[in-house]
Amino acid sequence: MCGIVGYIGPRDAVPILLNGLRRLEYRGYDSAGIAVYTGPGEIQIRRNVGKLQGLVEAVEREPISGSPGIGHTRWATHGEPTVYNAHPHRSQSGRIVVVHNGIVENFLELKAELVAEGFTFRSETDTEVIVHLIERYLEGENLSLFEATRRALRHLKGSNAVVVMAAPEPDKLVTARLGNAGGITIGYGQGEMFIASDLPALLDHTREVAFLEPGQMAVVTRDGARLYTLDGEPVDFQVTTVPWDPVAAEKGEYRHFMLKEIHEQVRGLTDTIAGRVDVEQGRVRFLHLDISPQQARGIRKIFITACGTAYHAGLVGKTLLERLARIPVEVMVASEFRYADPLIGPDDVVLAISQSGETADTLAAMEEGRRKGATLWAIVNVIGSQAMRMADGYISMQVGPEISVASTKAYTAPLVDLYMLGLLLGELRGTLSAEQRRRLVDDLMHLPELVSEVLRREDDYAAVARQYVPIRNIFYLGRGIHMATAYEGALKLKEISYIHAEGYPAGEMKHGPIALLEPDFPVLALVPQDPWYEKMLSQVEQAKSRGAPVIALATDGDERVAELADHVLYIPPTPWLLAPVTAVVPLQIFAYVIATERGLDVDQPRNLAKSVTVE
Ligand code: F6R
Repeated sequence: MCGIVGYIGPRDAVPILLNGLRRLEYRGYDSAGIAVYTGPGEIQIRRNVGKLQGLVEAVEREPISGSPGIGHTRWATHGEPTVYNAHPHRSQSGRIVVVHNGIVENFLELKAELVAEGFTFRSETDTEVIVHLIERYLEGENLSLFEATRRALRHLKGSNAVVVMAAPEPDKLVTARLGNAGGITIGYGQGEMFIASDLPALLDHTREVAFLEPGQMAVVTRDGARLYTLDGEPVDFQVTTVPWDPVAAEKGEYRHFMLKEIHEQVRGLTDTIAGRVDVEQGRVRFLHLDISPQQARGIRKIFITACGTAYHAGLVGKTLLERLARIPVEVMVASEFRYADPLIGPDDVVLAISQSGETADTLAAMEEGRRKGATLWAIVNVIGSQAMRMADGYISMQVGPEISVASTKAYTAPLVDLYMLGLLLGELRGTLSAEQRRRLVDDLMHLPELVSEVLRREDDYAAVARQYVPIRNIFYLGRGIHMATAYEGALKLKEISYIHAEGYPAGEMKHGPIALLEPDFPVLALVPQDPWYEKMLSQVEQAKSRGAPVIALATDGDERVAELADHVLYIPPTPWLLAPVTAVVPLQIFAYVIATERGLDVDQPRNLAKSVTVE
């Protein structure tokens, strides 16, 4: 949540900051702002409510230029999205500015203290206490910007990330990360340096980066960075090279990132599988997840923890891991995990799934697992993210940056990762024979081709979707492995179209929710050929007999479903353990078409942000 950028170097910071914010806009778009050192002793700020374009226009109307500079795109937590509450925030003297991501949990207490000292607040944000605290030490006690920031940060409770700039010291930016409030990544250029909360903002300039760990701060000058603990002790760190291609973060010919990312699933899945499977031997290996047969046999239970779409992937993962490796799996939403006092011990694995690797609840769940002595594994997309670094072993999603707020390719990739993990554990635990593994690997090798076939039918799915644009409610029903597909399909629709969509276990309908069905309350039923097929058919009959229109997702050639349903979304025959991948793609398209037909901004739906770094 919230995007942060910083630049220091010989070039004008303004276009670099605005371009960086454009790359991070998916993290929040309630308001945006930049602050630039414009001349001796002077820092100027431009801020605007709403999307970044408003800020771009504000800068065109009232141009500024200079270096260094900092910028911010906001997802509001404290205080409404107004210009006053937009970042950067300025100190009372006007000489210090700060951009911030996270929540200062004790801000009311700190604010009262600062007001009593004579500081005047101009916003409702928690951020403003940070800049006043820095001023207290920089101006009041004559400390350096680094020392003043360090002292100020020691007062804060909660997870926070900041970048600070001060007119008296224009040769540096100071940045810090407290807890898990999103990352701070430092980018290395030639005689210039960059700071951003996420890689896409840096990739146009550099692939050489260093990541701040929680509890670290950095002084960044044109020539490099020095890292410290919050006690001011220097820290050794590594500069790493990230492999992502900047072009991958461009929309290209597509109207929206979401559509682009739906289409990227074929390539994403191919890359996910490539290099990890040995078709002849029916074997899977992951570069960064080394499991010995002894360790695999000793696992008592796997706890999968994640949020939103990643949680739905985890639900599918339960079926995959239990069927393939015969290990009991519990799946818990990460926001509940640490408060549930889960019964975890050293023989258990906590497996976190996260696209961003920065979701605060998921990181907190991992910490809970660590505290209780469990092994930590993660399936993560963003390279260098906190979840990746925290885990004892990880699987990277290999799908490139996901920009659209609604997750698509970062849903199907972990499904395949979990399938491969099931195969690996199945081999190591001896629950799968070599013959079974070869067959399962063979099925997997055909998956990208099947997804490609599904995408060729995009227009057919779109034609069905167009008939449902005005609906107000819809149920997505599934059983077995497709309960999660129903949840995920409903989430995609609700988050981008604002239609009330509920995913429900089909067999539970008769215990209450069926009362809601009527002719303007459609049902989308997942009825592919799988072990739950017959049961699902009777659920479709029940919905029809209550007058609800039915859209069925079915396997090619299924006449029985065609006779019952009003519309059918056909998918090619897919082995049932892999069908959650082929089945979700038509639902992604269905949601996308309805939202675009309604004229909505699918990449940046209201009230949402891409990485949720607050609790
Ligand atoms: C929905 C969506 C969210 C995320 C959730 C977890 O389309 O994207 O539900 O899945 O916020 O995010 P990550 O995977 O980054 O931990």
